[in-house]
Amino acid sequence: MSRLVVVSNRVAPIKAGKVAAGGLAVGIHDALRQSGGIWFGWSGEVSANPDIGCETVGNITYATLALNKRDYDQYYRGFSNATLWPIFHYRIDLARYNREEYEGYRRVNAMLAEKLKPLLKPDDIIWIHDYHLIPFAEECRRLSIRNRIGFFLHIPFPPPEILTVIPPHNELLRTLCYYDLIGFQTDTDRLAFQDYMTREVRGVIEADGSLTAYGQNFRAGVYPIGVVPEEIRELAESYKGRRRPMRRNTDVLRKNIISVDRLDYSKGLVERFKAYEAFLDRFPEHRRLVEFIQIAPTSRSDVKTYQTIRQQLESEAGHINGRLSDLDWTPLHYLNKSHDRRTLMGLFRYAAVGFVTPLRDGMNLVAKEYVASQNPEDPGVLVLSRFAGAAKELTSALIVNPYDCIGMAEALDRALRMPLAERKDRYEHMMRAIRAADLDAWRDIFLRDLRTFSSRPRPAA
Ligand code: UDP
Ligand code: G6P
Repeated sequence: MSRLVVVSNRVAPIKAGKVAAGGLAVGIHDALRQSGGIWFGWSGEVSANPDIGCETVGNITYATLALNKRDYDQYYRGFSNATLWPIFHYRIDLARYNREEYEGYRRVNAMLAEKLKPLLKPDDIIWIHDYHLIPFAEECRRLSIRNRIGFFLHIPFPPPEILTVIPPHNELLRTLCYYDLIGFQTDTDRLAFQDYMTREVRGVIEADGSLTAYGQNFRAGVYPIGVVPEEIRELAESYKGRRRPMRRNTDVLRKNIISVDRLDYSKGLVERFKAYEAFLDRFPEHRRLVEFIQIAPTSRSDVKTYQTIRQQLESEAGHINGRLSDLDWTPLHYLNKSHDRRTLMGLFRYAAVGFVTPLRDGMNLVAKEYVASQNPEDPGVLVLSRFAGAAKELTSALIVNPYDCIGMAEALDRALRMPLAERKDRYEHMMRAIRAADLDAWRDIFLRDLRTFSSRPRPAA
């Protein structure tokens, strides 16, 4: 069997038993742990030293390098996270474009492909992840790397009207066509991509289902990322820490509502806090009987839009607790730091409601993890945004529109009152979907397709 070489911007070796927060790191780590191989990319450090460091843990070799300050600013902080991230999450209002940053993005992709080349064997399968590395395959072809190269986009793909806001959209999308296989989280994303290729650049869908555009022939498919339900259940069951908080003087159980997100404007955190406040105002009978725990580790804190969202959230949290807390009740617990997976899965298991309401999300693994953590005999309820990729599969969640504050408040009330039989029905239905498209299926089906699809010989880049 050929070796698997995974490339992503952020490489996240397990440190002290902890995987870095973020769906990509969690997903790739589990996928590589099964098959072994190389994981190549940025170490997360900013330094002028261009050397690659290699570290092997078990069957995974982590090959990483630092970025210099200019590359970090232009490629990571700039074009990747201040242009591509907001636009791919439908947030034109938060995006900026700077030509030098785009050039930096192209330059770093070329540099990374050059650094990877000496590590490759001819029959390696190369799997590239996420929006930082769209031009990576074209750079590989330029260097005569002939291996099969697949690409998986962890985030949404926007409709052409939004995508074309990026000035070099044409060049960017042309580079994407050098992959043999391009994977998306949902059919909505794949269709938006196909729309761009067929309408914007007159690409053609061939009789065998492949696409031809910009003189390249390639495949695009849907591969929803999943979780490992058995592992999650074990973690959740083995958690020994804090459970449902008790009232101090009586033995009445307080129910928890839980949310876990990187602190990102795509996650709908401010809207969620407002919905929780509206819930406590509209349904005061729940006051003192619920507590909302929001875990939100900071992310990309040197990008301006992330600083703004953090300030907004802090002010909203202060407002809710200031207005509604009592000496023996704090309605909202806002924890601005990351937690290990065992703690998270344990908290999920004991929370009556998982409140997952992104404004736009590629998949949202937290939604699947919340469900997989539940006790089948007494499961909690998932309240899920229709704009998370996960909503396409978890149709038995209480689906909400995160722009509808009162609608979300009503869903919380309904979730907290839901009878056991209905909770069990919904849980079982969602677990069937989670098992049918778990993390092994994501990796195995993508790699099977990448190995077996035969694309036509490609003209040189
Ligand atoms: N996560 C974690 N610790 C934290 C916060 C999040 O391990 O403190 C994990 C979480 O369990 C999930 C992933 O990070 O597996 C987040 O993935 P998701 O798809 O929900 O969102 P993303 O961060 O990729 O946008
Ligand atoms: C999301 C993205 C990943 C990214 C992660 C953490 O999951 O899809 O590509 O690695 O967020 O963000 P960061 O900028 O810290 O790598």
